[in-house]
Amino acid sequence: MPVTAVVGAQWGDEGKGRVVDYLAQRADMVVRFQGGDNAGHTVVNDFGEFALHMIPSGVFNPDTVCIVGAGAVVNPANLLAEMKTLRDAGLALDNLRLARRAHVVLPQHPQLDALAEAARSGADKIGTTKRGIGPTYADKAARIGLRLGDLTRPEWLERRLRQTLPARNRALAELGAPPIDGDALIERCLAWGDALGGRIVDTVPLIRDAVQGGRRVLLEGQLGVMRDLDWGIYPFVTSSNPAAGGAYSGAGLPPNAIDTVLGVVKAYSTAVGGGPFPCELTDTDGARLRDVGKEYGATTGRPRRCGWFDGVSIGYASWLNGFTALAVTKLDVLDGFEEIRLCTGYRLDGQTIDHLPDTPDLERVEPIYETWPGWMTPTRDVRTWRELPKAARAYLHRIAELAGAPIRYVSVGPGRGELVVLDTYGVEGLTPGVER
Ligand code: GDP
Ligand code: IMO
Ligand code: MG
Repeated sequence: MPVTAVVGAQWGDEGKGRVVDYLAQRADMVVRFQGGDNAGHTVVNDFGEFALHMIPSGVFNPDTVCIVGAGAVVNPANLLAEMKTLRDAGLALDNLRLARRAHVVLPQHPQLDALAEAARSGADKIGTTKRGIGPTYADKAARIGLRLGDLTRPEWLERRLRQTLPARNRALAELGAPPIDGDALIERCLAWGDALGGRIVDTVPLIRDAVQGGRRVLLEGQLGVMRDLDWGIYPFVTSSNPAAGGAYSGAGLPPNAIDTVLGVVKAYSTAVGGGPFPCELTDTDGARLRDVGKEYGATTGRPRRCGWFDGVSIGYASWLNGFTALAVTKLDVLDGFEEIRLCTGYRLDGQTIDHLPDTPDLERVEPIYETWPGWMTPTRDVRTWRELPKAARAYLHRIAELAGAPIRYVSVGPGRGELVVLDTYGVEGLTPGVER
């Protein structure tokens, strides 16, 4: 599986960072293909515990080339701060590269993001991370954006900024914010260019050579399909494509180069921010999932909304992403539950549906649950499929069945090694996802 896309199968925070950190031990290259520093990818390994926002989660392997891809958006000031944190932890970062086509999150973008969010009320709030993601991608689509490569070309930079400044200032004035000082912005951009210039490259030959040379390449997604700009719960979405389709365009490789699409999925559901979340629990079970799973946002610290596993959205996610395998995370969080519920359909206007309706209807659906016996046994030290309690295996099989994809990894703790690996199908006489 030389080229593997690792993508979020739910509402984000599935544990993508932890999975990429594990897989990157053997990877030659990791490419973050979309999103910005709205990501919070937690990695726990020998270097410590980190919440990575922009830097690919392969950074802990010094031999892995880590690329921030063209489909991503980069806040240079935040990136430099993140680089410092990692350097302070003893990492060299020699292999970090940034696509010159990636767009720049400028200082007014987070400001516009916060102002737009403040103007939304109640149930209309998206609950963005206020990292300027929406406004930056909006400028990109409006063709007034600035790209990382522009930071290293002073004349071109000035031309681009002076040309786009009037439109930017109009947008700020509409929201009651002061205008941008063009000279100061140019100076800041040039300083970022100086600080990052050596890393800003054309990623096409790098990635093409890796793929053509049969190297192991990981494509790291941000967020999950339910917040995909096209396929998520619009308008409560991010402004890029976390689904696997975004990996081709965001990293810059042909669709048929990807061999494996690994869907990362929590053994239950969480979401942070607004929008419909059908399996949300506002009772003691929801609070318990939050407590045991430490479900607080890695970027904003907000408490995550928690609920049972949503088998309808996983079927949708699986089709859209073409999962060839799953990594199920946080199984251990369910260890103490006597009963575990799992949603297999939605009730809408008296009808049972097993597909994902559009946002206004998704807000009204009632989940239909089946109940599974819990295993009431700690799983954190388990490292093989056979050692997993029988009830846990049955529950995992049901997840695989609903996703229509086999399980390859089961994560039972946040640490790098706290994982059950099933990638040698058949060795134990098992075909995960089929055998009971
Ligand atoms: P990401 O954004 O998809 O990378 O996920 P986050 O890092 O935002 O959220 C996942 C959280 O769960 C982090 O705090 C991880 O350290 C933690 N985590 C990941 N896998 C496991 C697991 O198997 N068990 C437990 N208990 N925690 C996990
Ligand atoms: P990772 O990569 C969970 C949510 C926000 C908001 C919506 C849009 O760690 O899984 P944005 O700032 O992108 O404009 O916010 O998406 N959101 C996330 N939720 N994990 C993330 O990243 C998220 N990034 C954005 O809460 O509802
Ligand atoms: Mg996260």
